[in-house]
Amino acid sequence: MSIIKIENLKRTYGTKVLTHALKGVSFEVSEGDFIIIMGKSGSGKSTLLHQLGLLDTPTSGEIFIKNENTKDLSEKKKTIFRLEKLGYIFQEYAILPELTALENVYLPLMVSSNNGNKDFKEKAKEMLKLVGLEHRFDHYSNELSGGEQQRVAIARALVNNPQVLFADEPCANLDTQSSKNILDLLKDLNKKLGQTIIMVSHEPEDKKYADRILWLEDGLIVKDEKVR
Ligand SMILES: Nc1ncnc2c1ncn2[C@@H]1O[C@H](COP(=O)(O)OP(=O)(O)OP(=O)(O)O)[C@@H](O)[C@H]1O
Ligand SMILES: [Mg+2]
Repeated sequence: MSIIKIENLKRTYGTKVLTHALKGVSFEVSEGDFIIIMGKSGSGKSTLLHQLGLLDTPTSGEIFIKNENTKDLSEKKKTIFRLEKLGYIFQEYAILPELTALENVYLPLMVSSNNGNKDFKEKAKEMLKLVGLEHRFDHYSNELSGGEQQRVAIARALVNNPQVLFADEPCANLDTQSSKNILDLLKDLNKKLGQTIIMVSHEPEDKKYADRILWLEDGLIVKDEKVR
């Protein structure tokens, strides 16, 4: 089943000097896909991910999530949609330093309305266990390694059971071993939970984790490669 569909998506930055970061991109993402967006620096990867994740508004074109045209969502609805239905991880781990690992993970549950009556501390613990951090609940970010901080960020991104997990170069600040651990974890989440993942990478080595690679060049998809 299609979970995201984009049609002729364009994003131009600037008012005087224009940068055409996306020049008309169309594709469809199926539920359970692990997609990697690859391309050189400046090719438009982050721009594309930001449009897909509703973190930015395209200059033109359409984005459908589960057949709903996101153009029809008000800014407020979009915010709620992002919070409750989408998950994000970035290059910077962006976990809050004044909160413990556990508090960082249950924060999104406290502010969202779809947490039901479930004890959100329990749910957050479940997520931290899933990413192998059951021994780090009460640690602050300065007491965690880079790889551990990124795993907290992943647990936080997953706590709302997002329809899609977006990752923009999640391993860029990590050493080789931690990067491998993170990618193995993402692959596992994809295989075992059927988590749909769209990740940006410029590391050709990462290709083996994906089902499909979208190659971007100068704001256009130049190759749509099915890996398996
Ligand atoms: N906010 C912005 N204002 C103006 N131009 C921008 C803005 N963000 C990105 N750009 C430009 O759009 C183009 C695409 O940028 P983007 O960040 O999407 O590239 P990228 O493929 O993610 O690169 P990298 O691998 O270096 O992260 C670049 O030419 C960039 O300079
Ligand atoms: Mg980028």
